[in-house]
Amino acid sequence: AERKLEVVTIDGPSGVGKSTVSRLLASRLGYTYLDTGAMYRAVALACKRAGVDVRDEEPVARLLDTLDIQLLPPDEEDGDVRVLINGEELGLELRSPETGMLASTVSALRPVRDRLTRMQQEIGRQGKVVAEGRDTGTVVFPDAAWKFFLDASPEERARRRIGQLRARGVEVDEKEILEQIIQRDRDDRERPIAPLKPAPDAVVIDSSTMDAGKVVETMLAHIRRSVPGQ
Ligand code: DC
Repeated sequence: AERKLEVVTIDGPSGVGKSTVSRLLASRLGYTYLDTGAMYRAVALACKRAGVDVRDEEPVARLLDTLDIQLLPPDEEDGDVRVLINGEELGLELRSPETGMLASTVSALRPVRDRLTRMQQEIGRQGKVVAEGRDTGTVVFPDAAWKFFLDASPEERARRRIGQLRARGVEVDEKEILEQIIQRDRDDRERPIAPLKPAPDAVVIDSSTMDAGKVVETMLAHIRRSVPGQ
């Protein structure tokens, strides 16, 4: 049998609970949590700060060449992965819905995907990683031993996203969040490069009626049943 990488991939649309589930699973397995969305968000913020249009491939590519991007382990307190751009730690703005929309737009550009995909593959090369994103099972780690795709209705995802943002003290307009979720997913699914979709060998889990703990147990049961390389 082909050799599989000791990596778990968790893909799915925004607000489906990927982050919570990925963190819990990584801690249960003693693996490193790789938040690929944070990297796209960081590039989006760097563009915004530099006044570069996130739809404009050439200026974005030029800026990208000047960026030193570093991922630090999750914050002890909130569990969020921290990102440094040219040595500066990006704050709460990294997690805002607006940054998510910009990240979705900038992530459609080939130079951005190529650079971040290479970085992610480098981080995962030694295995023992839980990677979450949109294309981690299809493009970044096609050889991953365990692949999951999480799904839930847009309404349920909006409800969760609103809860998360409120817990962070962010004021939210519920209707706007739902609209953003629907639009961002459509953009992520319909883009030509690395679109959001389940890998052919991914286990699809509908998390609409399951809490994060239940989803993690489902994943662990699956992982224990299938050992890589067999
Ligand atoms: O998971 P998130 O909300 O932090 O991701 C923000 C955006 O980044 C998402 O809408 C699309 C993009 N993204 C991507 O294209 N590929 C990934 N592997 C992760 C995120």
